[in-house]
Amino acid sequence: MTALDPPQVRSPQPPRLQDVLGVTALPPAGATSVTNRLRALLGRLRRAMAPPPARIMESVLAGLEPAVLAALCRTDLPDRVTGPVPVAKLAADLDVDPHRLTRLLRFAHTRGWLRLDRRDLVHPTRLTPFLRREHPGGWRAWVEFAAGHDVGASLAVLERALPPDGDAFEAANDLPFFTFMAAHPERHASFDAAMAAGARMHGLLLARAIQWSTSRRVCDIGGGDGALLSVLIAHHPHLHGVVLELPEVVARMPSRHQVTAQAGDAFQALPTGCDTYLLVNVLHDWDDAAATALLSRAAEAARSSELAGPDARVIVVDSEARRRPTDDLALLADTLMLALTPGGRERTVAEVVALGEAAGLALERHRRLASGDVAIVFRRGRNAPE
Ligand SMILES: C[S@@+](CC[C@H](N)C(=O)[O-])C[C@H]1O[C@@H](n2cnc3c(N)ncnc32)[C@H](O)[C@@H]1O
Repeated sequence: MTALDPPQVRSPQPPRLQDVLGVTALPPAGATSVTNRLRALLGRLRRAMAPPPARIMESVLAGLEPAVLAALCRTDLPDRVTGPVPVAKLAADLDVDPHRLTRLLRFAHTRGWLRLDRRDLVHPTRLTPFLRREHPGGWRAWVEFAAGHDVGASLAVLERALPPDGDAFEAANDLPFFTFMAAHPERHASFDAAMAAGARMHGLLLARAIQWSTSRRVCDIGGGDGALLSVLIAHHPHLHGVVLELPEVVARMPSRHQVTAQAGDAFQALPTGCDTYLLVNVLHDWDDAAATALLSRAAEAARSSELAGPDARVIVVDSEARRRPTDDLALLADTLMLALTPGGRERTVAEVVALGEAAGLALERHRRLASGDVAIVFRRGRNAPE
C-alpha cells in the first residue's frame, strides 16, 4: 500500500440496531405494519377533529417543519444538547438572541426533537442523538440533502411533474436529477450520504431477512457508497460484494472490506459472475420502461452466472405502495419521486412482480421488512421475451 492509496476499512463491525433503527430488537414486519396503520388512523382522527380552515392552515404551514429542523441542525444544536442545558447558555454559545432561539426550541419540543422544560432547560430526547453529525446511523444527512435548494425548487413547481413526460426537478434546475448531481459534486455527495443511512438499515434488515448461506458474490446495482454491502458482509463474512455505480460515485467511494466498485451504467451492462443482484431503492427512480430495462440487465447477468447456476437471484427492495392511499413513508417517498424523477414511483408488490416477469424473471417470494419496505426475490427464470 502506498501513501496515496485510500485507507482500507478492515473487518467492520456491523452497526448496532439502536443506531440504525433506534430499537434494541428488530420488530416483526407485521408489527411495523400494524403500528404504521395505527399512526395513520390517529393522524386521520387528529385531522378530522379540526375545522376545514384549521386543516388548510396546518397544511399550508407544514413546510415549517423541515425548515426549522434544518435551521436547528445547521446551528449544530442537536450536537450541543447532550444533557440538560439552559437556553441562555445555548444562546450565548451560538451568539444568538435567547428569545428568538426559544421560539424555535418550542417548535422543536412539540415535534419531539428536543424537550424544553418549564425552567428553560433543553433536554435531549430519544431522537436528538440521531440528528447529531457524528451519529453512526447517519440520518442527519437526510436533513441536509432534503433542505437543498434544488430539492426545494422542484417541490415548488410540483405541478410541472404532471404531464406524461413531466419532470419537476428538471423544470426547476435545468437538468434531470442524476445529471444535475453529476454536475454538482457537493450536492451529489450529500445525496450519497443520505442514501447511505437507508443503505445501512437495509443491509441490517436484508442480512436477517434473506438466506445468504449459499450465496458467495453479491452485486449491488446503484449501490451508492457501498454501505449496504459493507453491513451485509459484516454479518456474513463469507460474502464478497461488487457495487455498480456511476463513475463520479465510484470516485468518492471509501475503500471497503471485501467490496469492489465498478464504474458503469446499469442500463448498459452489469458485472457478471455474481449469484445475487440487488436493486435497493433503485427501481423507484424510474418509469416502467426503464425499470424493466434494469431488471432485464439484472436477469441477463444472473443467467450468465456460472457461480450460482439456476439459483442466481435478483432481489428488489423498495417501499411498498398501498392500493388505498395511507399516510406512511411509502406515500411520502412516492410523492418525492414525483418531484425528483422523470417517471419514478413506488409500486405495489404485484406491479414489481409484473415488471420482473416482463424482464424474464420468476418470482420466488416476497418478504416485508421491519422498515415497512418489501424485498421481492426473483430467480433468474427464462430468457426475456424479444
Ligand atoms: C436512490 S439511490 C439508491 C442508492 C442505494 N441503492 C440505497 O439504497 O441507498 C439510486 C442510485 O442509483 C445510482 N444510479 C443512477 N443512475 C445509474 C446508472 N445509470 N447506472 C448505475 N447507477 C446509477 C445513483 O448514483 C444512486 O446511488
